[in-house]
Amino acid sequence: MKITICTISLIVALTAASLSFKSKDNKANNDRIASENAFLQVYKVFMSPRCMNCHPAGDVPLNGNDNHLHPQGVKRGEDGKGVYALKCANCHQSQNTPGLNMPPGVPDWHLPPADMKMVFQGKSAHELALQIKDPKQNGGKSSHDLIEHMKTDLVKWAWKPGDGRTTPPLTYTEFYNQFKLWIDKGAVAPE
Ligand code: HEC
Ligand code: HEC
Repeated sequence: MKITICTISLIVALTAASLSFKSKDNKANNDRIASENAFLQVYKVFMSPRCMNCHPAGDVPLNGNDNHLHPQGVKRGEDGKGVYALKCANCHQSQNTPGLNMPPGVPDWHLPPADMKMVFQGKSAHELALQIKDPKQNGGKSSHDLIEHMKTDLVKWAWKPGDGRTTPPLTYTEFYNQFKLWIDKGAVAPE
């Protein structure tokens, strides 16, 4: 009789433990899927022209929805602010210059610096997620700093890009919420 009660309570205990493991597993799994899906949403914004044009694979910014090389011989330079007489700030003001094909602008318009290029062009979602969360490649930023960056003028500009330019495929609020969700659920790089 004693043995049976012992056995039963052991079975009950084991079942309870395995159920709680299962639900932990399920939570981890759900978080992973939520994080991956959130990144796949923001990835569409990252790869859209307004963002990608400042995050080129080479050392020349890109222009337009076809991502063609910036004319006028403009180059990144060490600090991302241009070279010699071709500093970004010569043409790009602290706000958009009105009119078609006029220079867009926000305060301190520039590319990421030469030692931290933060390339979007040509990256898969997996590669981009790894690059963005790697402090060695993102300028030593924590996940919290990354969320803060999404509130800067450079990023917000994409949703008020000046005459004749299209905006990214998500609204700013959708983008911000999905980016935060990606981080909050573990910043998982989609396969
Ligand atoms: C005018 C150029 C410009 C535009 C447009 C731009 N960025 Fe950036 N981005 C930068 C610069 C410069 C940096 C490097 C950090 C800095 O100097 O602020 C950067 C860094 C980043 C980083 C790296 C993380 C970090 O905190 O530095 C991410 C992610 C990012 N940008 C996302 C975006 C997204 C998303 C968009 C479009 C909605 C966008 N950027 C549009 C210039 C730009
Ligand atoms: C000689 C003037 C000049 C200089 C210098 C210059 N730009 Fe431009 N830039 C322009 C003009 C004009 C446009 C608008 C082109 C258009 O819309 O057809 C432009 C457009 C852009 C765009 C495209 C925006 C988009 O999404 O289509 C980016 C990105 C850009 N510039 C980055 C830079 C950066 C970064 C620097 C410095 C490294 C720089 N530019 C230096 C004149 C200049």
